[in-house]
Amino acid sequence: MGNSPKITTRTGAKAWDTIWRWTWFTKEQWQGEFRRQKEGTRRALASLLPKLGVRSILDCSCGLGWKTILLAEMGYDVEGCDGCGFAVRRASQLAREEGLDIRFFRSRWETLGRTCRRKYDCVYNDAFAWITTRRALSASAGGICAALKRGGKFIFQGAHQWSRDDDRERMIQQSLELEGRFEALPLHQKDGIRLTTIVTREKTADGILGNRIHVVDDHGAVRIEIASVLDACIWTWEDYTETLGRAGFRRLYSVKEKGVGPRPYILNVAEK
Ligand SMILES: C[S@@+](CC[C@H](N)C(=O)[O-])C[C@H]1O[C@@H](n2cnc3c(N)ncnc32)[C@H](O)[C@@H]1O
Repeated sequence: MGNSPKITTRTGAKAWDTIWRWTWFTKEQWQGEFRRQKEGTRRALASLLPKLGVRSILDCSCGLGWKTILLAEMGYDVEGCDGCGFAVRRASQLAREEGLDIRFFRSRWETLGRTCRRKYDCVYNDAFAWITTRRALSASAGGICAALKRGGKFIFQGAHQWSRDDDRERMIQQSLELEGRFEALPLHQKDGIRLTTIVTREKTADGILGNRIHVVDDHGAVRIEIASVLDACIWTWEDYTETLGRAGFRRLYSVKEKGVGPRPYILNVAEK
């Protein structure tokens, strides 16, 4: 019998490092496609942002910078940051390849007050709802507030002003049905490395636990890298109202914007 492949499992910030490294490896598959994939968000933001009267935006969960690039292409003065160093380096490279000069920097949301060199009219975060502890929620709200000018807007998603407590179970179920419990991503082969990625999703008490299983055949030596991320669904509208209020925001409300498909995109706006 041969040796079994070594399995490494990563959670939290390290899981994002694994996800972005292998996503970057498959760049040829998505570089011509990412605008289409993010079209719903682009439309919703293109409708909302002019009404808020913002000019400068920090996309603080930028990952590889896909939405940062879209915001720059809409004409906003945008910068991107993320806790994952690999992602922000590659986001800079991607933006350059797309003909844009965008500043990206590494920062956790909790420390934005210290790391951002300027204040913005708007901070956008598409993963604020994924925070798993109350302590991290408060610290992140504080960091984001510190990066905003007075009157600045923080845009995020998750529970909203029309949510009810019993919506949670339904939202988890809906999202699972939409994304599926199992997904196999297209195979990718480059530089002697063959990558097979399988995604599994399971319902937990706190949301959906996603496992991205990367089977890496590196010149004949096989290893498995698993990135485990909780798409959390813990926070209620009351949690947001209370936490953001304590962090220094004066007002919180939700808006419905048209994206792609029949359902409206619901975004939350917190005003400093
Ligand atoms: C859902 S992904 C972002 C996807 C990206 N906006 C896109 O459109 O492709 C969430 C990102 O948030 C980052 N992140 C999670 N928690 C963070 C924190 N506390 N501070 C900074 N970044 C964080 C992760 O590194 C990850 O890149």
